[in-house]
Amino acid sequence: MLASGTGTNLQALLEDPWIGPSIVLVVSDTARAGALERARTRGVKAVVLEPTRYQSRAEFDRALILLLDDEGIEFVLLAGYMRILGRTVVEAYRDRILNVHPSLLPAFPGAHSVRDALADGVKVTGATVHLVDEEVDHGPVVMQEAVVVLPDDDEQALHRRIQSVEHRLFPRAARLLVEGRLKVEGRLVHVLAGDADDPAMPGDPVTAAGD
Ligand code: GRF
Repeated sequence: MLASGTGTNLQALLEDPWIGPSIVLVVSDTARAGALERARTRGVKAVVLEPTRYQSRAEFDRALILLLDDEGIEFVLLAGYMRILGRTVVEAYRDRILNVHPSLLPAFPGAHSVRDALADGVKVTGATVHLVDEEVDHGPVVMQEAVVVLPDDDEQALHRRIQSVEHRLFPRAARLLVEGRLKVEGRLVHVLAGDADDPAMPGDPVTAAGD
């Protein structure tokens, strides 16, 4: 798990009975990230990897891949990680990295999506969980849910409501990924049918395995 912020998504993941126990490492680019403390409280290893301590982007990416390798990491979850992942990291974990973003992508990519949505006067925005590719906030969408913009919303209030949706979507999407139930076809992600304890949302494009 990579995070730079307060770590409310990390908390939701840690508290999820299915995905929580599989979270074994939290990496942040800043020692100030609240996510680190949340990880330590739960007994999860928390590591700070500061890009400024490395000579180049390539060296930083190598250090990150080495760390993930050493810890036997199979899947990477980004929640408020404020760095663009290097090409080599994306390649090493192709279709195994999820990001959560506070808008209905492809609308409002970037670091100020809630502010941008308000400034644009949209009446509906939302949350997206998507697979990560080389472009920012761009990879194939796994799950989305709309959040209505209220007339007196400010950035904080709207972001808070979006985050409560993120906290539901992200653990569910992470589970589907880990269970191998996301089948990627170009920009389309099919959710393969699971067992009775199925975390897919009603309306998800559930496909029988092997289709
Ligand atoms: C989330 O809203 C996420 O969508 C965005 O950054 C925020 C991180 O929040 N990428 P938190 O650190 O998980 O509380």
